Amino acid sequence: MNQFAPSEPPLLFFDTGIGGLSVLQESRKLISSAPIIYAADYAGLPYGMKSETELAARVPALLGRLVERFKPRLVTIACNTASTIALDHVRSALNIPVVGTVPALKPASEMTKTGVIGLLGTQATIRQPYVDRLAAEFASTKTILRFGASELVYAAEAKLRGEKVDSRIFSDAIAGLRSQPDGENIDVIVLACTHFPLVQKELAHAVGRPMRFINGAKGIARRIQHLTKDLEWLNSGDEGLLVTTGALKDLDPYRAALARHGLSRFETL
Ligand code: DGL
Repeated sequence: MNQFAPSEPPLLFFDTGIGGLSVLQESRKLISSAPIIYAADYAGLPYGMKSETELAARVPALLGRLVERFKPRLVTIACNTASTIALDHVRSALNIPVVGTVPALKPASEMTKTGVIGLLGTQATIRQPYVDRLAAEFASTKTILRFGASELVYAAEAKLRGEKVDSRIFSDAIAGLRSQPDGENIDVIVLACTHFPLVQKELAHAVGRPMRFINGAKGIARRIQHLTKDLEWLNSGDEGLLVTTGALKDLDPYRAALARHGLSRFETL
């Protein structure tokens, strides 16, 4: 097979599916000429329903193969589930900078007026000690109500394929937060899965009253910009490459949306 070789070392983004596009999108605004490899572990989706042990082995192994093949300058784990479980494992396995994506509890804590924050993530993310530590460090005086909504991962995937999604999926996720004690006082919702900003409009509609949403993508973009500030991009004009662990033909329904994100080459890992 004729494999694509970027003309200069790329930045690599990693997620299970298209969720990482919410991070890539913000990053492109700050580093528009960097060559991009976007890796999607479709064979492993959904991470949110997998065990810690499985992900702590799978994610570093996959990233090791990707780094060996594409020799990126920097890796961004554009997935909260993988980051909150495997970030340390990945960092110790790779000798390049690794940026993780973790729930934006710090800015949420600064934004809330009622002191009640909703946190929507995958089932795996919301139970992580990493999240407990973030909450203790940055939001210890706030109430944080967590809800695991992996169905939203499928909803975001379906939306990108151009399919119609049942609005009940969004209202169920919001009800999962609101039905908890103090839930009616939530005024900020942290989208702690990179798929969820892709359906933020639908979630806002399901809330039906003013609500602020926050996710970590802008902060990650600034971090990537900082870590690459001394690099000069040749503006090679490379089209972004999407590498999947799944079947290439499964990407067909996504191609139009992926092209809008600058990803128009496709390979399997
Ligand atoms: N996008 C991933 C995250 O941020 C999760 C998707 C999945 O469950 O595979 O957690």
